[in-house]
Amino acid sequence: MSYQAEYKKSIETPELFWGEKAEDIHWFKKPQKILSKDENGISRWFADGELNTAYLALDFHVENGRAEQDALVFDSPVTDTKIRYTYKELRDEVAKFAGILKAQGVAKGDRVVIYMPMIPEAVIAMLGVARLGAIHSVVFGGFAPQELAVRIDDAEPKVVVTASCGIEIKKVLPYKPLLDEAIEKSAHKPSSCIVFQRPQVTAELIADRDIDWATAMKTAEPADCVPVKGTDPLYILYTSGTTGKPKGVVRDNGGHAVALKYSMKSIYNMEAGEVFWAASDVGWVVGHSYIVYAPLLAGCTTVVFEGKPIKTPDAGAFWRVCEEYKVKSLFAAPTAFRAIRKEDPDSELLKPYDLSHLKAIFMAGERLDPPTYTWTTETLGKPVIDHWWQTETGWAICGNLTGVEMKEPKAGSSTLPMPGFNVQIVDSEGNELPAGEQGNIAMKLPLPPSCLPTVWGDHERFRTGYLAEFPGYYSTGDGGYKDDEGYVFIMGRTDDVINVAGHRLSTGEMEEIVASHPAVAECCVIGVNDPLKGQQPIGLVLLKNGIELDEKELETELVAMVRKDIGAVACFRKAMVVQRLPKTRSGKILRKLLRQIADGSGYSVPSTIDDPASLPEIEEILTNHGLVSSQ
Ligand code: COA
Ligand code: AMP
Repeated sequence: MSYQAEYKKSIETPELFWGEKAEDIHWFKKPQKILSKDENGISRWFADGELNTAYLALDFHVENGRAEQDALVFDSPVTDTKIRYTYKELRDEVAKFAGILKAQGVAKGDRVVIYMPMIPEAVIAMLGVARLGAIHSVVFGGFAPQELAVRIDDAEPKVVVTASCGIEIKKVLPYKPLLDEAIEKSAHKPSSCIVFQRPQVTAELIADRDIDWATAMKTAEPADCVPVKGTDPLYILYTSGTTGKPKGVVRDNGGHAVALKYSMKSIYNMEAGEVFWAASDVGWVVGHSYIVYAPLLAGCTTVVFEGKPIKTPDAGAFWRVCEEYKVKSLFAAPTAFRAIRKEDPDSELLKPYDLSHLKAIFMAGERLDPPTYTWTTETLGKPVIDHWWQTETGWAICGNLTGVEMKEPKAGSSTLPMPGFNVQIVDSEGNELPAGEQGNIAMKLPLPPSCLPTVWGDHERFRTGYLAEFPGYYSTGDGGYKDDEGYVFIMGRTDDVINVAGHRLSTGEMEEIVASHPAVAECCVIGVNDPLKGQQPIGLVLLKNGIELDEKELETELVAMVRKDIGAVACFRKAMVVQRLPKTRSGKILRKLLRQIADGSGYSVPSTIDDPASLPEIEEILTNHGLVSSQ
């Protein structure tokens, strides 16, 4: 099968295409309806099929000859720990943990929030929730209590699962006080919290609410898999939008299982029994899809790594793990390779390792800049595959079908649209643009399996945020172009979302926090290029009339406020006072123009601008702070 034939079939006969792919997973009841509309008029996949995703990830393999194969290997250089779980061991742990949840009253459709570091118990908790047909919502450990509280209020979990601490390089970060603070702030109160105690910190448990994981596991009754419909939600994952309130992306069971299983062979060329490593975090979509679900659905071994590409202990960590576990495909964010290159530019730390099992490196999460692409390709001498996707889709929109027909990669491009994704470049009126012209990237409906059908609890937000801008299309929020061979080049977001070290953040949310400072009249947060993290957020602040203060002190206060409300992961470290902000005559801040100034790519002054003199002033301030990229 060629890429072209596979792609054409998926677009011209989607029901036939995905109906065949659905044969590749075990259904308790096979779907008769492949594609149908739900009550909101949204196209849905496999609505009447019945399955259980945790069954497919574990029990199915135990029953089909993989009981003694490693399902998960845990490698934690920060605690000097290595643990292996066979499929049977992992299934048994998950069934017992599901039993604990069941005893706490968790049933099909209930929500469970998981706030955990990168340890096997995070995976066990996710699969335990899925086993009961309940819905998990994992919150990344780098988020502060306020962010956790917002998610608790939106998802309204019956139970929250946490650990006593996370470990960031050498820092031990207690999680439980953060959870307690979040529950204090939230209006919704979970009825219980299950706490996994790690040796580094013993969390204080609150009587009548908190349950010790290890104690409960000793007496837990294993729970069976609960069948759910193809369209029943598997999880909610909150992601940054343009406003302060994160969006709860809903993932359903059927489409997700079918698409992810398909992707493992077609995109990553993985066979059952081989080792896959996504060096991400379970708090992000990459972690959900390619640390937890896809490798297990495909009968592979997944690596759970509690460490960083550098400093745990050094820039050879990735190569050590690849050799030790015979990793076939490595998936990470470009920022990780930029960090390795910076620490070890001549790749001295690569030399001791045998990477003969490693066949390809996949990158996503942010733009793979050509220098990083070239360095990684030359250093490793292996194919480096850029692929573009979003929390909303759960798998790659554009990439390279290495298991079907590998296309020649081009630096700066995430290659071609993946089956099911009808990717078009459109202008602001929604007209499709020819090759070579840059515009908004949109996808013609219907979207393929695994893509979000709604935003949790707010379907209107889904409609206005994704479907209203270009009728008949899903708007991705990314801009870019296709070349004359159809290769897609992603050039960056067209909205207020930025990517810092592969982490998706909202500048709108940071603005809300900065604007709440008593001295600030108005502000604007934009992402500027950063050689290591891809982008970094910076604040431009207009003071209230008559306020005089030390600008450095103000910056320190603003940085602390963002860190407190969003978390360290926001990486908000710079705020500058400006005399005016460029606005339209109707008073809208021209953020895009500010981004263009910082990009150093040149800008033209729009006719709608109210105060053109603000532009050179800001350019000067950014230049003096070294924040304008040299093109
Ligand atoms: N829990 C708590 N804090 C966390 C955290 C977590 N899970 N993850 C990050 N943080 C903290 C860090 O400790 C740091 O805190 P500090 O300001 O006190 O130093 C802050 O958030 C910023 O973290 P980060 O942006 O990751 O910077 P870093 O200097 O610690 O590491 C890299 C830089 C490049 C090594 C690291 O960002 C990395 O490995 N990136 C890859 C990201 C990735 O895999 N993304 C997933 C998409 S595929
Ligand atoms: P997230 O939802 O966290 O996965 O972030 C999705 C966003 O990250 C996309 O909308 C893009 O802006 C960016 N992104 C992800 N992968 C890539 C890629 N391969 N190339 C360019 N941008 C990417």
